[in-house]
Amino acid sequence: MREFEILEKFLDFAWAQISRGKADKKSPARCPTFITTNNHGYPRARTLVLRRSNRESDEIEFHTDKTSQKMLSLEKDPRAGIHFWLPRTQLQIQMDVIVEVRVGELTLSNWKNVPNSSRTSFGTIPSPGTVIQKSLDYRQLPDQNRFAILICHIKLIELLHLGAKHVRARFMKSQQWNGQWLAP
Ligand SMILES: Cc1cc2nc3c(=O)[nH]c(=O)nc-3n(C[C@H](O)[C@H](O)[C@H](O)COP(=O)(O)O)c2cc1C
Repeated sequence: MREFEILEKFLDFAWAQISRGKADKKSPARCPTFITTNNHGYPRARTLVLRRSNRESDEIEFHTDKTSQKMLSLEKDPRAGIHFWLPRTQLQIQMDVIVEVRVGELTLSNWKNVPNSSRTSFGTIPSPGTVIQKSLDYRQLPDQNRFAILICHIKLIELLHLGAKHVRARFMKSQQWNGQWLAP
């Protein structure tokens, strides 16, 4: 069982797990929870596939349908939360992020790399979340105009490790990711 006594090593460990989310399809870091606040003020959490992570630029990237409900929330408030639970390493990762939305021409190079089988996720008719009469009353037509990239600029990372002793720490970009231990 790992024990963490050095803040920097704790953060290194978390980033190594996040990187596996893209590299290893079986890693639970592949499907974190993305949280926004909906129009009625309630938090709304949903699973998204992690498409890219970059520690150097403090970024995490997701792809979604431009007409999905989360986009309305982000239009009003670009602040969002991200949550990972990694059972094998007993690590919880929580993030505060500011989301930059890219649509249209800016997404063309990414769209080229989306496999045909996945493109159908971007272009559901009617739009995701619309009420339909029967469960299968929808079509899926791949549409690059409906493809949106969510670049999440990470501002805060909080880690909780459940070892023999629980260990918790918070790291903030505004403090050059130096970190502080927290009571678990
Ligand atoms: C394992 C899993 C992976 C998912 N990956 C994505 C994804 O990468 N992008 C996406 O927009 N929705 C994805 N979804 C669907 C979302 O959880 C959500 O239902 C959808 O984006 C609509 O959310 P919204 O109405 O809150 O905008 C995934 C769902 C599951 C269960």
